Amino acid sequence: MTDMMSDLEKVLFDGETINQRIAELADEISRDYTDGELVLVTVLRGGLIFLADLSRRISIRHTFDVVGATSYGPHVESSGQVLITKDVEVPLQGRDVLLVEDIYDTGRTLHVVRDLLQVHDPRSLEICSLLVKDRPRSQEIPIKYIGFHIPNVFVVGYGLDYDEQYRHLNCVGVLKKEIYS
Ligand code: XMP
Ligand code: MG
Repeated sequence: MTDMMSDLEKVLFDGETINQRIAELADEISRDYTDGELVLVTVLRGGLIFLADLSRRISIRHTFDVVGATSYGPHVESSGQVLITKDVEVPLQGRDVLLVEDIYDTGRTLHVVRDLLQVHDPRSLEICSLLVKDRPRSQEIPIKYIGFHIPNVFVVGYGLDYDEQYRHLNCVGVLKKEIYS
C-alpha cells in the first residue's frame, strides 16, 4: 500500500473523510426512502467499494445489484463509447432504484446506464455519485446525492482505477502524471 500511495501526487479525500461523508449520505437516503422498496444499483467495477460501504450504513431494508459497463480501458481519457456488459438480475419494476456511481465525469456512462434501468420500469430512479467532476458537459444529468465535488483531474482510489490498479486504496487521490504519460 505504501508503495502505491507514493504514486499519488496528492490525496483529495482520506479514508476517514470518505467514511464520514458516506454515513451522512446513508442517513439522508434512509430518511428519504420507504422500507423494503429501495434497490441500490452500481456499475462494475468502480462503484463496488462505494456500494458496499453505503449499503452497510443504510438503516432501512433494501437490496442491491450490479450492472456491467465499460468505457475507459487502460487510458485516462474516456473513449466515448459505453458498452453494457451485464444487466441487473433483481426485479426493479415498481421499486425505488438508486443508481450508485463512483464518479460523474463526462456523464456518458450514467446516461447509458440510466436508460438501461429505466427500461425495467422502476417507480423512481435517482442517482447517487461519490464524486462529481466540475467540468463542462454537453448534457447535465441531475444527481440527487453527491459525495464530493472535485476539479477536472484524473483520480484513483476507493474503487477508481488506472489500468485496473489503485481500486483498493481507501482514499481518493490524484495520480502522478509520470505514471500514465
Ligand atoms: P464517464 O462519466 O466519463 O465516466 O462516462 C465513466 C467511468 O470512467 C471512470 N472514470 C474515472 N476513473 N479516474 C478513474 O479512475 C477518473 O478520474 C475517472 N473519470 C471517470 C469511472 O469508472 C466512470 O464510471
Ligand atoms: Mg466506473
